[in-house]
Amino acid sequence: MQFNQNAMILGIETSCDETSVALLERDGTVRVNLIASQIERHQPFGGVVPEIASREHLQHLFPLVERALGDASAKWSDVDSIAVTSGPGLIGALLVGVAGAQGLAYGLGVPIVPINHLEGHIFSPYLQTGGAAIPRPDRFLSLVISGGHSAIYDVRGRDVKQINRTRDDAIGETFDKVAKFIGLPYPGGPQIEKHGRMGTADPKRFPFPMPQFKDESLDFSYSGLKAGAIRLAREKGISVDGDPQALAEFCATFQDALIAQLFDRLDTVWSRIESPTPAEVAMAGGVAANGVLRERILAWGSGRGVVVRVPEKRYCTDNAAMIAFAGLQKGEESDPRRVVARSRIA
Ligand code: KG4
Ligand code: ZN
Repeated sequence: MQFNQNAMILGIETSCDETSVALLERDGTVRVNLIASQIERHQPFGGVVPEIASREHLQHLFPLVERALGDASAKWSDVDSIAVTSGPGLIGALLVGVAGAQGLAYGLGVPIVPINHLEGHIFSPYLQTGGAAIPRPDRFLSLVISGGHSAIYDVRGRDVKQINRTRDDAIGETFDKVAKFIGLPYPGGPQIEKHGRMGTADPKRFPFPMPQFKDESLDFSYSGLKAGAIRLAREKGISVDGDPQALAEFCATFQDALIAQLFDRLDTVWSRIESPTPAEVAMAGGVAANGVLRERILAWGSGRGVVVRVPEKRYCTDNAAMIAFAGLQKGEESDPRRVVARSRIA
């Protein structure tokens, strides 16, 4: 058999509101990573509407695959495997990606690598535009912060052990819900960041306590901050139609409180971790695109002499490059007939 030097893995991501397709070389070089965002279609509803998401994926998936091949100057025969997000996510949205991947896998006679969306995020800090992936250490701590997750993992090889998680809302969800309440468009995280940049944090005016559990658990909890922020916004008349300076201060202070909790837990996890100490701390997920947080975590690392990996912004929010990359790490291929989509993964 002839070795195809142009062999690539095709990645497909349709778990939420982004249809994304990527082609990666075996060394993790991203040849193409296309994202068709549906944000504008969901914006009038202030959040993702599952039915609309599924229909949009159906409309965009195959044209995007064809475009990806064209942009990468690749042929169908160059695709030697397909990595697809099989869960967790919106079930109708996942089914479009999985069924699409199954059809392609049958047609091309190639295997599928089903990917847990979370694993996609976990390895994403090691992708780099324009070249092979950054070699990752055998052990690292992963901080995954997105619309659906807030958790710290101890990653050893391909073994992913959860250290903590949120007991209620995810950090991205908290950004989004509070933003919606004050009249900012979806998704709220980038909006809060943008307005916060025009003000300074004022914890006297907007007091947000640090949530602690009686049992000294390291878990995150964001529902109290969400409720507190909504109450303060109501009491002090904070909204897009109100005083812009007050809005800016509110956003800066609220963002600081959300971020402060990340560092509170990260500090404790880091101080308690058993040896050998993980070589690196890698942050991932949509919230990792936040500029204030990116600066702070890099400073956290340099203060402790810890290598901190921050993904390129394009690989923070949902994308297929990270799914294909996780497929390369995993390497366990499945018979296309056996791949199932699951909205929840234990
Ligand atoms: O990873 P992602 O695209 O989807 C999930 O897997 O959930 O993350 C989306 C989340 C949203 O909650 C969005 O508000 C948040 O990431 N996000 C941000 C920023 N950019 C996106 N949060 C804070 N600051 C940002 N710059
Ligand atoms: Zn995600």
